[in-house]
Amino acid sequence: MRNLYRKPTNLHCNAGSRCSISAVLWSVLGCLFLLHLYSNIDHKDGKVEEVQLRSSLHPQFRELQQAELLNIQIPSPKGKRSPRAAKRRPKRTTTLVDEFMDENSPLRHVFFPGNKSVVDPMKAAGNDSYYYYPGRVWLDTDGNPIQAHGGGILYDEKSRTYYWYGEYKDGPTYHAHKKGTARVDIIGVGCYSSKDLWTWKHEGIVLGAEEKNETHDLYKSDVLERPKVIYNDNTGKYVMWMHIDDANYTKAAVGVAISDTPYGPFNYLGSQRPHGYDSRDMTVFKDDDGVAYLIYSSENNSELHIGPLTEDYLNVTSVMRRVLIGQRREAPALFKHQGTYYMITSGCTGWAPNEALAHAAESIFGPWEAMGNPCVGGNKLFRLTTFFAQSTFVLPLPRFPGSFILMADRWNPADLRDSRYVWLPLIVAGPLDQPLQHSFEFSLWSKVSIYWHRKWRLPQGWSRFK
Ligand code: DGJ
Repeated sequence: MRNLYRKPTNLHCNAGSRCSISAVLWSVLGCLFLLHLYSNIDHKDGKVEEVQLRSSLHPQFRELQQAELLNIQIPSPKGKRSPRAAKRRPKRTTTLVDEFMDENSPLRHVFFPGNKSVVDPMKAAGNDSYYYYPGRVWLDTDGNPIQAHGGGILYDEKSRTYYWYGEYKDGPTYHAHKKGTARVDIIGVGCYSSKDLWTWKHEGIVLGAEEKNETHDLYKSDVLERPKVIYNDNTGKYVMWMHIDDANYTKAAVGVAISDTPYGPFNYLGSQRPHGYDSRDMTVFKDDDGVAYLIYSSENNSELHIGPLTEDYLNVTSVMRRVLIGQRREAPALFKHQGTYYMITSGCTGWAPNEALAHAAESIFGPWEAMGNPCVGGNKLFRLTTFFAQSTFVLPLPRFPGSFILMADRWNPADLRDSRYVWLPLIVAGPLDQPLQHSFEFSLWSKVSIYWHRKWRLPQGWSRFK
């Protein structure tokens, strides 16, 4: 009779003792597995938690991690079509990227707000100060639009000042020939200084174009793009690396310039095809141990190359690794967090915006894993176009480990001098929400997120000086 009342699960246990031994064995194994999992997660996530904790101490940081949504209506196509015409040829659907590239689009003001929305840092007061407005015109302390496109920032320890360098493009946009891309003659590298990362003083053009000598790399009708400056602790020199090209982008080289001060003037030393390869979009990255690296798109933009610079940062060494092979990425922006290297890249679509990817690696030489699109908020198309911008640099905020500023360019191919800056908070924290592209392993890397904000500011206490 008793057997009739046994629960069905007990029916596969013929002998009570055998059942309890296997149950104990399974529980021990289960515990060991959980312990293993926990110790692995703890190894990295412990650090992540620290970031989240630190961030959560600052309510404004929490705010910055909120997804801000955006709703843009695509206007109906210009001109009415008769029903017969509509039948003959199907209407081409207009995408927001088409609207973005069309200088006569009625949505122009959405991407390139006009002068009415200019934020003058010197006149902004009270609650409205220190806000970044991605996509608006940003003025320097003289009231002129900042010209530092495709740029990057150097923090100068000696003067406790930030220096922002970039392409000074304040000239007319034209096409060198029918098939040529939109361009502005080289004017030089613009330099701006700031203590607060918000108020920018123009320090002048720290590396100027060559006006007469047509064979010079910096001859005005050539190309100088993406200048980046790093400081060499051994030589005490400021070293600038930049993309050097001709108007058709066939020279595909990198140039180097040097200065005794962060505010120039920089002395141009020459160009080369690094490691014997073509080199277009590029950046430099100075690691914690003082070793600096050149990272450039190569093999016709089909892959990236990474190689250490010589000790004086003036040349490449013979060491080079090919990474992201066949992935066609450009606009690399490297940064490091808790021993892991991260990189934001764009696709290759000229001045038109496209989808960003975040990548991570344990060694700077790779293997680099793609971790998906880091953009959060806005709307789907905003996320698929990096908020209509292209990465150029990622600036760490040292007081908040895991917090960075993504610097990106919203190019305006109709008028390149009026290209805008899209700076947004970039946070490394939290688990990945999609599997890695090339590895089936359980990844312990943290997620990289770039949060869209119509306006935002750095949390109080971010500064190094306080
Ligand atoms: C995309 C690059 O990222 C830019 O720096 C610039 O070279 C444009 N292409 C030119 O079309």
